[in-house]
Amino acid sequence: MERLPEGHGTTTRVLHWLVAVLILLMIPAGLIMVQEGLERHLQDALFIFHKNVGSLLIVIVTLRLAWRLTHRPPDLPVSLPSWQRRAAAASHVALYVLMVAMPLSGYVRVRAGGYPIEALDAMGVPALVPRSEALAEAASSFHQVAAFALIGVIAIHVGAALQHALIRRDGVFQRMWPPVARKRT
Ligand code: HEM
Repeated sequence: MERLPEGHGTTTRVLHWLVAVLILLMIPAGLIMVQEGLERHLQDALFIFHKNVGSLLIVIVTLRLAWRLTHRPPDLPVSLPSWQRRAAAASHVALYVLMVAMPLSGYVRVRAGGYPIEALDAMGVPALVPRSEALAEAASSFHQVAAFALIGVIAIHVGAALQHALIRRDGVFQRMWPPVARKRT
């Protein structure tokens, strides 16, 4: 199959947009479900969605990270200022760290608190952390702070992507946009 000079491959794009869509659903679900005075059925539905899709994200994010560590992304355009290269590298590391830390801390918060994760319980997957109120509290605090850090880094990431698409017009945005590429990664 023909090789393009640059651009992410189909697997990279599918993993990127799958994780992006799920995290962009998880954030508002998390923020809404913790509000006081929410209608009970809506709160229950949001918690069930958040816990179960969040647990699925542990698996998908692990795959995404493994794929990234074994597949080097194409180079950035040489015209890109060095501070923007460094900012891109730092924000991508922060995104990966937070993408792993968020679902893991959520999982620990729920399991250490002794709560169900319906899909895992139905499949007979045991809790992998011990019951501990102190651990549940620590994980909860971390989960809340990391959520706002993640929202900040996502805002920077989307801003940079739009800058590439609308101002620099250097193809960096298009190489991750959904239409599949004909390249290896
Ligand atoms: C990428 C994955 C995740 C994201 C982006 C995310 C995001 C959020 C956000 C934004 C909040 C609201 C924080 C606040 O203002 O209090 C929240 C709360 C919460 N999340 Fe997550 N979450 C993720 C994964 C998970 C997972 C996997 C679980 C459990 C299996 C979970 C369980 C909870 C719980 C129980 C709360 C309520 C706060 C608490 O009682 O500690 N989350 N999450």
